[in-house]
Amino acid sequence: MPAGGNPNLSAELAIPGSAPVSDIADEIFIEKNVSVQMLRLDQIDPVLSGNKAFKLIPNLVAARASGFDTVLSFGGAYSNHIHALAEAGKRFGFKTIGVIRGDDGQADSHTLQFAASRGMRLFRISRQEYRRRADAQFIDQLRDAFGDFYLVPEGGANESGIRGCMQLASVINNSLHTYLPDEIMLACGTGTTMAGLVAGLGELRHKSEMSSDTSLPFATSLPSATRLPSVTRLPSVRGIAVLKQGGFIRAEVTRCLQSLRAPGSEFPDWAVETEHHYGGYARFPEALAIFVREFEIRHGILLDPVYTAKLMAALYQRVAAGLYPPGTRLLLLHTGGLQGRMTTQY
Ligand SMILES: Cc1ncc(COP(=O)(O)O)c(C=O)c1O
Repeated sequence: MPAGGNPNLSAELAIPGSAPVSDIADEIFIEKNVSVQMLRLDQIDPVLSGNKAFKLIPNLVAARASGFDTVLSFGGAYSNHIHALAEAGKRFGFKTIGVIRGDDGQADSHTLQFAASRGMRLFRISRQEYRRRADAQFIDQLRDAFGDFYLVPEGGANESGIRGCMQLASVINNSLHTYLPDEIMLACGTGTTMAGLVAGLGELRHKSEMSSDTSLPFATSLPSATRLPSVTRLPSVRGIAVLKQGGFIRAEVTRCLQSLRAPGSEFPDWAVETEHHYGGYARFPEALAIFVREFEIRHGILLDPVYTAKLMAALYQRVAAGLYPPGTRLLLLHTGGLQGRMTTQY
């Protein structure tokens, strides 16, 4: 049975077309003559914010189009993805099931309490069993236990998720007005968001080349007098891996781009940095906590401990190391995850 009763599904499940932008001014940026702005995807919705909206909404559209009323996914006890899916399910009329890593008897995290409060059925499994989350036989067993469902992989890492993240390119283009970044930086876990962004930029370029309008995106809103030579190319994209041995993210982004075969998805100008993981996924050493505290007080922008804290720390390190030529304009994506602050002492 299809879920929900609203016939105007595309309006109900729409991804926002733009997001607020914050200017981040700091002594080190002035000294190095680098400008930094941040796209505040954390502010697009009180709960369904950050990259989650972009990954989940196309999945829910696909679920509804195929007549599913139940969506199942996987995540850890503090997962931003599980938190967002529970909210989206409640809001858009889907039953949701969260298969949670770890059955060690720990009390429910605030993330899981929130998910349950939004009607998500939670099912804890051992870490060993959790490793089978992509195994077809295991998924069949889950169908036997729960009935049929639309499956969203852990972290929303599937083609619908990537295609949703392709829309980030036009959101950036619509939000920036006269700021033309040379480089866009974002935090990477699976690489899905980055793959979508890179493909989306390639698609924007392709569309502009195909249209009679010869000006590239990111340049269209500039008065002609301010069009500098550098606006004739699109920004490059730099991912910051938040886990140890994040080299797999490069392979994953490459695989995603190849599988999309979208026009322009061969967009080549991207890189993944693997030295900013601070000891591994969800590790939050005191040095990083001090950095985040100072940053938040100085700029009034909250960071999450798992993703955007490491992104921001990487930015400061790269600028201080002189890796950007004077005049460079950077854009950081705030991909949300602020619910994760509830469990971390800063
Ligand atoms: C807040 C936040 N930022 C960044 C990411 C990284 O996204 P991806 O897994 O697509 O690389 C995630 C994970 O989805 C996240 O929750």
